[in-house]
Amino acid sequence: NPHLRIVLYGSGGVGKSTILIRFLLGKFIQEYDPTIEESYRKEIELNDEKIIFEILDSAGCEEDSIIIKRCLKFSDFFVLVYSVDNKFSFKEINYFHELIKRYLLEKNENKKDYPKILIGNKSDLFTKRRITCKQGKELAKKLNCKFIETSAKTGENVHQLFYESIILAIQD
Ligand code: GTP
Ligand code: MG
Repeated sequence: NPHLRIVLYGSGGVGKSTILIRFLLGKFIQEYDPTIEESYRKEIELNDEKIIFEILDSAGCEEDSIIIKRCLKFSDFFVLVYSVDNKFSFKEINYFHELIKRYLLEKNENKKDYPKILIGNKSDLFTKRRITCKQGKELAKKLNCKFIETSAKTGENVHQLFYESIILAIQD
C-alpha cells in the first residue's frame, strides 16, 4: 500500500496538535500542552485505494536545525501553520521556509522547492485577528503553495486541510 508522510510545522502554540486531534478524534482540546514530538498513523481510503497516512506533529518551541532535519527525513510534505491572531507566527513561516530550503539544498542539489500547504489557524478568533486572509493568500503565492484558513475549535476546514494535503502529496 502507498505510504504518505506529512509533517505539521510552525511556531509553538499555533494549534498544530489541536488541529490533528480535531481531525483524528473530532474534538477540541482547550489546554495548551506543548508537544515534544508525536507521530500518528491512520488508514484512509482514496478512490478505492487504501493509503497509510502518517503524520508527524513537531515541537514548535524547539525551532532548530535538528528538528528540520528530522522532519525532512520523515516526510516530504509540509503543512506550515501559523495562527491568525499571532503576527510572530506568521513572520516565522518565512524563516521556516528558508530553513527547509537550505536543508533541502544540502541534501539534494537539484531540489529547489518542496511540496507544502500554508495554514492560517484559529480563524474563529474574530476580534483577536491580526493577519488577514489576504495576507495569508499573498504569502502562499510567494511560497508557491495553496492556502487554507482553519479552526481546530469549530472544526472549520480541518478535514479539507488533510484531504488537500493528501492529494497534493500524491501528485508530487
Ligand atoms: P507546540 O506543540 O508547542 O508546537 O504547539 P501547537 O502548535 O501544537 O499548539 P496546540 O495545538 O497545543 O494549541 C495551543 C493552544 O491554542 C491550545 O490552548 C489550543 O486550545 C488553542 N487552539 C488551537 N487551535 C485553535 C483554534 O483553532 N481556535 C482557538 N480559539 N484556539 C485554538
Ligand atoms: Mg503541539
